Amino acid sequence: MEEKQHIGQLFDRIAGTYDGLNHGLSLNIDRLWRRKTVALMQPSQHVLDVAIGTADLTIEMFRQHKAEQVTGIDLSDQMMAIGQKKVAKFQTTNDQRQTTKAEFIHANAQAMPFEDASFDAVTCAFGCRNFSNLDEGLREMYRVLKPGGQVTILEFSYPSNRLVRACYDIYFTRVLPLIGRIVSRDKTAYTYLNKSVKSFCWGEAFVQHLHDAGFSSEHFIPLTFGIATIYTATKCLNDKIND
Ligand SMILES: C[S@@+](CC[C@H](N)C(=O)[O-])C[C@H]1O[C@@H](n2cnc3c(N)ncnc32)[C@H](O)[C@@H]1O
Repeated sequence: MEEKQHIGQLFDRIAGTYDGLNHGLSLNIDRLWRRKTVALMQPSQHVLDVAIGTADLTIEMFRQHKAEQVTGIDLSDQMMAIGQKKVAKFQTTNDQRQTTKAEFIHANAQAMPFEDASFDAVTCAFGCRNFSNLDEGLREMYRVLKPGGQVTILEFSYPSNRLVRACYDIYFTRVLPLIGRIVSRDKTAYTYLNKSVKSFCWGEAFVQHLHDAGFSSEHFIPLTFGIATIYTATKCLNDKIND
């Protein structure tokens, strides 16, 4: 089976329990991480939310008035269906139906169906480590971003403190896969999630990938002992697409 089909199907299977498990297993800390991530963004007109999933980051952008329009892409239709309902509910209860707009498109982050320089800002929360080729995904983000625009990425990382790291290892290799398996009733999904976190790059190594994709002014901020990290970078104003 093709890699992208496999990832889409994996998230389709766990979509119904994804939010509950996310918030429960992280003791709601993931909400704080998304809030902080969005707080670092400049207000933008049109944002691309890569791997939008169930749209928590998009809703946070609307909550903080950081985006008027969000285009979300993902390989899982089930995740996006839940996200679409959540966004509609948020817009109605917060009187934002006229002022904000979200669209959901089934598309691969590594081959996006958009023109160069289409978006004022690009975001991605917990999506990058799922890409079969990280560099392809980052190069696509760079391509579709307007010169002067910012990319903001939230991703799991690996704590540097040895004690925290030991607790993290036990949690991610034993507790999380077990609870994930019981609640989502999926034998493999949460073992995959655990493996994808441990084999992924973080910190300076991730920044190097951003740099290689063409970005500049890269920064990263470790969160909660380095369990997650926010990365920001910009596309130069004088990028050649502008010439
Ligand atoms: C862990 S979820 C994160 C969802 C959401 N951004 C959040 O913060 O909760 C990862 C999402 O990435 C999507 N995804 C993985 N690889 C992708 C790719 N190559 N292109 C588009 N979406 C992808 C999955 O379908 C899934 O919905």
